[in-house]
Amino acid sequence: MTTPIYYVNAEPHLGHAYTTIVGDALTRWRRLLGDDVTYVTGTDEHGLKVQQSAEAAGMEPQAFTDEIAPKFAALWDRLNIANDDFIRTTEPRHKAAVAELLQRCYDAGDIELDTFAGKYCVACEEYYSDEELVDGDRCPIHLRVTEYFEEENYFFRLSRFEDRLLDWYARHPTAMTPEHRGNEAIGLIKSGLRDFSISRTSLTWGVPLPWDETHVAYVWFDALTNYLAAVGFGDGTDRYRDWWPVDYHLIGKDIVRQHCVYWPAMLMSAGVELPKGWAIGGWLLSDGDKISKSSGNAVDPLDVIGDVGLDGFRYYLLADTTYGNDGDFSYEGVVSRYNADLANNLGNLAARVATVVAKKCDGIGTAPDADSALAAAAAAAYEGAAAQWDVVQPSRALDATWSLVRATNSHLEAHEPWKSDPGPAVDTVMGDALEALRIVAVLCSPAMPDIAQTLWERIGMTGEVADQRLPQAAEWGQYAGGATVTKGEPLFPRIKV
Ligand code: ME8
Ligand code: MG
Repeated sequence: MTTPIYYVNAEPHLGHAYTTIVGDALTRWRRLLGDDVTYVTGTDEHGLKVQQSAEAAGMEPQAFTDEIAPKFAALWDRLNIANDDFIRTTEPRHKAAVAELLQRCYDAGDIELDTFAGKYCVACEEYYSDEELVDGDRCPIHLRVTEYFEEENYFFRLSRFEDRLLDWYARHPTAMTPEHRGNEAIGLIKSGLRDFSISRTSLTWGVPLPWDETHVAYVWFDALTNYLAAVGFGDGTDRYRDWWPVDYHLIGKDIVRQHCVYWPAMLMSAGVELPKGWAIGGWLLSDGDKISKSSGNAVDPLDVIGDVGLDGFRYYLLADTTYGNDGDFSYEGVVSRYNADLANNLGNLAARVATVVAKKCDGIGTAPDADSALAAAAAAAYEGAAAQWDVVQPSRALDATWSLVRATNSHLEAHEPWKSDPGPAVDTVMGDALEALRIVAVLCSPAMPDIAQTLWERIGMTGEVADQRLPQAAEWGQYAGGATVTKGEPLFPRIKV
């Protein structure tokens, strides 16, 4: 599982956090299924954009990147990201992989010297044709004025790969998800592929071409190779094949061309297997604009965590936006989803169950009914969540999970155990609710690892919720009863608006 490696021209913001949290939740979900996952993220440190930012800060590029890269790593720690590696493109292992991939494509005859002229967006590190530009000379992504560049340099013969790419995607129709985003990539290929320049002589901040050290590699050729470098490509062994091909490249819709067109062509040229999957996310918008450093509307994730807690923040990002579509970020949106799904729904259920167990069952958990009406709801919640995580739709997976929360609240309201005298009937209803909470804790743990563990312990379960294994852990009837149930502080204190 990979995220894009983020440019270090700016501090990490909410948009970066979004993709990284989706990857983290997916990683945790796969681990619950018993899969071995390595989750890789990192920083993209070469290229004109970073060099210019370093100059603006009055620093050498290496010193500049050494200052920013750890801020990304620190944010991922703070956001409880379970990444196994953090790759920086300035590391020797990465440079070795880039040299190896370049050499392979060069040896295959797909890299040749040529002259090129065109309009370049430094923010995208990308050339655009006149048809692609907006308002004459502005880039379609940042709406920034592009710069005219003319260069003699090495080109990757992308134009040769049109048919091969279309053929490969036709044979792997579900490789890109969601479908509408994959169709955009197919559209790019069908509209005709131009060779792209893979080297710069005007720039020194990059990896030198192995056969001509007067050129450094174009930042995208360099950056994409991180995915192979992280698993050992270029170290002289075949170790990278333990993990390659990657199952999920998580990317934003802004970098589809590079990941779904350039990258597979580069791999074909180099004789390396293509990725198994790409999951393409939309953008988080603020007042209709993409959240970004260049738009000046970057949101610091730490500001949001302060109010709704880390897991409330993670839940919001995963639940509020359909993966692949754009999402609107607003403070009001965070609070209303937090109050509705977490404070009033899951949090209220957990508190209610603990209160009634304290009053009617002496605070000791009771066993569920093997034939409870909630058993079917639990099975449906698991099936729905599994199907949706499988196609990288966290919001739908969480909605399926919350169907069990809602069903459990309704089950309690139908039986009103708080009105009954203690006894076997109340014990069974509370056992049902505790068993549902046990399953909810497992299913919500990829999104909310800490809260899930707290919930797990409050209902009297021992060990780590993350060590549970699906699908067994979702099977109805495992809550044994007999353990102390604790109420504790509210899991999600309601936020007053
Ligand atoms: O493109 N909404 O890096 P980058 C959602 N270095 N996701 C967002 C977002 C937003 N408003 N803003 C950023 C690069 N992202 C290259 C990648 S990979 C070999 C090289 C996320 O720092 C989203 O995943 O501009 C997007 O694709 C990525 O950050 C781009 O980060
Ligand atoms: Mg960007």
